Amino acid sequence: MTALDLSSPVAVVGTGTMGQGIAQVALTAGHPVRLYDAVPGRAREAAEGIVARLDRLVAKERLTAADRDAARDRLLPADDLTGLADCALVVEAVLERLDVKQELFGALEDVVSDDCLLATNTSSLSVTAVGGALRVPGRLVGLHFFNPAPLLPLVEVVSGFATDVACATRAYETARAWGRTPVACADTPGFVVNRIARPFYAEAFTVYECQGADPATIDAVLRESGGFRMGAFELTDLIGQDINESVTRSVWQAFFQDVRFTPSLAQRRLVESGRLGRKSGRGWYDYADGAERPEPHTAEPAEPPAYVVAEGGLGPASDLLALIREAGIQVRVEDEDHGTRLVLPSGGRLALADGRTSVEHRDVVYFDLSPDYRGATRIALSHSRDTSARTVAEATGLFQALGKKVSVIGDVPGMIVARTVARIIDLAYDAVAKGVATEEDIDTAMRLGVNYPLGPFEWSRRLGRGWAGSLLEGLHERDRSGRYAPSLALYRHACATGKREDTP
Ligand SMILES: NC(=O)c1ccc[n+]([C@@H]2O[C@H](COP(=O)([O-])OP(=O)(O)OC[C@H]3O[C@@H](n4cnc5c(N)ncnc54)[C@H](O)[C@@H]3O)[C@@H](O)[C@H]2O)c1
Repeated sequence: MTALDLSSPVAVVGTGTMGQGIAQVALTAGHPVRLYDAVPGRAREAAEGIVARLDRLVAKERLTAADRDAARDRLLPADDLTGLADCALVVEAVLERLDVKQELFGALEDVVSDDCLLATNTSSLSVTAVGGALRVPGRLVGLHFFNPAPLLPLVEVVSGFATDVACATRAYETARAWGRTPVACADTPGFVVNRIARPFYAEAFTVYECQGADPATIDAVLRESGGFRMGAFELTDLIGQDINESVTRSVWQAFFQDVRFTPSLAQRRLVESGRLGRKSGRGWYDYADGAERPEPHTAEPAEPPAYVVAEGGLGPASDLLALIREAGIQVRVEDEDHGTRLVLPSGGRLALADGRTSVEHRDVVYFDLSPDYRGATRIALSHSRDTSARTVAEATGLFQALGKKVSVIGDVPGMIVARTVARIIDLAYDAVAKGVATEEDIDTAMRLGVNYPLGPFEWSRRLGRGWAGSLLEGLHERDRSGRYAPSLALYRHACATGKREDTP
């Protein structure tokens, strides 16, 4: 099954933010495009808006004037649905309400031919439910674009329970022909991106809720140590707290209140107070003119230790050993293959976050995960009240000697980046096991859809098979809600290397 012929007209119904973006993509790919909106005059305004954007592309020399003129001639607002009768594909981007979408598709079926492909851009409804009442339900597919559609290439191509394979394939190939990067996925809550990204927000909010650190510090650690483009607090301020929370709530509800997706009470209160983020002038941060952005907590300079003893090769943090040597600090390695700890001259230990709290040990400082210790500019440390001041100072001085800022946070098991990444990896394995998408497509979706520095499977390969499962086991032992219980899929993955027992 191939992509739609470029001579086939494509309709976009609902010409708000997404509809206009999707129409622009289909139009610049070469299709005749029809626009329809329930509010009279809005489709015409949308057409003008799209042409104005094409004008800007011409000014930037990214589109020729001739191509802009041809595109303008192919763009046609329609006064009612009958104007869409000759379309080969209708993409719906109307209000996010099941009854509205069902009614629209019902009306469309009376107008278009039986082989017209129907697509919904819903981000949170079940594609199966949207197409449930159709006379020919097999032709409805989810085409989930991201905002702004002309700039973000990812499109989740969602097959509902009744979607014909041929229709999904045609939608997939058409998205590809439009210069997009499609990923195929099953119709499950949140599809790929909005499902697997939930812990990015939830774990940051959890660390905040348990007084582990303030938003500015958590954001700085996610960016400067985790390699994420933005921290969870600043990103949700940009998205809108109400929008972000409603996605979380809808995924949680759609999974029958699965504890792994439980929304955040702190975010609920923020929404209730009207602090919706940038658009309302205040969210986690204050955006009023002249308001000062809070600084992350950064430790004062401390003396680095003269030497460290590495008990093991430091596992996923092994790059640190070279960095420590380069900083002129002597490293004695005691057990090359096992362990992820450094012994400091104080006798205390510095260990990579492992899902336990520091108070469980005699004299330990935990450090957080980074996918790139060389490039990281900040590292979070945590310790208990019982950790000696000398151990904390030596741990702080050590990372500062490597050129990192240090944020000392509360004694939170799994720290910030490590718990976030472990949960993202877990949900990714779970999604593959449940047939949501392939490993490769999930990595692509998370890199393109939410700009993650690495896809969850790339991350998992770097961290080693057992890493995420073992960190989550640690968290699960300390929080029996089930939120951190590793999925069967992750457990199987860990067992495939070494965790096996000989006899049942
Ligand atoms: N905004 C995003 O970031 C984003 C991203 C991906 C998907 N989506 C999804 O795309 C859809 C549209 O979102 P949006 O942000 O563009 O909304 P929007 O409010 O900007 O636009 C919706 C448009 O649909 C029109 N409309 C409403 N009911 C209609 C009907 N029955 N028939 C025809 N037109 C109708 C409205 O007049 C409006 O112009 C929603 O399903 C949303 O969940 C949004």
